[in-house]
Amino acid sequence: MQSFFIDGNKFNFEIDNTKKVIKKLKIHSSPKDYELSLIGESVEKSINKIISISQTPVLLIDSNIYKIYGSKIKKKSLLIYKFVAKENKKNINECIKFTTFLEKNNITKSSTVIVVGGGIVQDIGAFSCSIYKRGIKWIYFPTTLLSMTDSCIGGKTALNYKNIKNLYALFSSPHKVILNTEFLTTLPKKDVLSGLGESLKLSIIGGRKSLESFSTNIDKAIQMDRSALTRIILTSLLIKKSVIENDEFENNERRSLNYGHSLGNAIEPMSKFYIPHGTAITIGLLIENKISLKKFGLSKDSDKHILDLAKKLLLPRFIKKLSNINLSTVNDYLINDKKAQGKILKIAVPTKIGYINFCKLNLSQTSTKIINHSVQLLLKEL
Ligand SMILES: NC(=O)c1ccc[n+]([C@@H]2O[C@H](COP(=O)([O-])OP(=O)(O)OC[C@H]3O[C@@H](n4cnc5c(N)ncnc54)[C@H](O)[C@@H]3O)[C@@H](O)[C@H]2O)c1
Repeated sequence: MQSFFIDGNKFNFEIDNTKKVIKKLKIHSSPKDYELSLIGESVEKSINKIISISQTPVLLIDSNIYKIYGSKIKKKSLLIYKFVAKENKKNINECIKFTTFLEKNNITKSSTVIVVGGGIVQDIGAFSCSIYKRGIKWIYFPTTLLSMTDSCIGGKTALNYKNIKNLYALFSSPHKVILNTEFLTTLPKKDVLSGLGESLKLSIIGGRKSLESFSTNIDKAIQMDRSALTRIILTSLLIKKSVIENDEFENNERRSLNYGHSLGNAIEPMSKFYIPHGTAITIGLLIENKISLKKFGLSKDSDKHILDLAKKLLLPRFIKKLSNINLSTVNDYLINDKKAQGKILKIAVPTKIGYINFCKLNLSQTSTKIINHSVQLLLKEL
């Protein structure tokens, strides 16, 4: 059993370091628990199985995934809605288009929506399924590393509004999650590295042992070794499970999972969504570490340890983009952070590895200077 601390409260999780890989995780949730299954069979077999046992199934699928697996999907009595996964399409208009499709096809509450895709398709599916007829069942096949290690559990969903990331947000848990790492064989490298950013965040929250396990597996995972990827995915999920089961609706400790997100969710739209979400989170956590180093007590050793791991996840073109971002308007983004109250932003930062605390940042010209200084410091080290 491993322990970590959020705002002084102790959390435990069972680190997945045995030879026996976990195949099922039960997620305690309100109003209903759900199960995550790790599947070894082929992608088409696992999707076709769910289609065959679902009543009036609707497949909401990432158009890139459809290109790869579409010909092998059994289409008899199946409604298919392909979605182009672009950040600028993660909005309410696209949800309305999808729910209109459901309505035109007389979809009722007894139907199941099978969502196949990464975080963008998940957000569109989860949001739509929660507002359509006050809730319709959805089953989720995550296809990116980010969605496998992080977003597939926890029930959060959000849409962007104009240039504000995740402004419209609600909770919508899936009925079931089916995790098949075969999807990762076609995932572009930038998206693999992006997904590893969210697992790095969870591994820092989880403490020394989980960060050690991340360091052991990172190089092989980047080389797409399936067993190293599975280890990283399971450890991340076990840490997240421990937090969300204590505070599913983010009243207190779950806010710790936003480590890296205050700055990350600003950097992502400031880069006009050129920098992928998980990569923006990696950058965000490095900037927040610099702030913690200066103001909240993170040690130089911990900052360097995290930086050395994060460097493996940052492609030169994204570092270059960061260096070209004009940070003078950063407060306009931070003020929309869900953890901001007026001009006070409580950022979740590590005070050491395995210890997350909520620290107040007064949004002002001074905080803009601190952020700017932190980014310049970081750029020198990257
Ligand atoms: N709801 C949540 O809890 C939560 C948590 C974290 C992030 N998010 C959101 O998730 C989004 C990012 O999602 P993401 O990083 O999972 O990816 P994504 O959905 O943005 O997809 C990235 C790209 O990979 C492609 N793709 C997906 N799976 C593939 C595969 N197996 N093979 C080849 N190509 C594939 C997509 O078509 C797309 O081009 C952001 O909008 C972020 O805000 C949501």
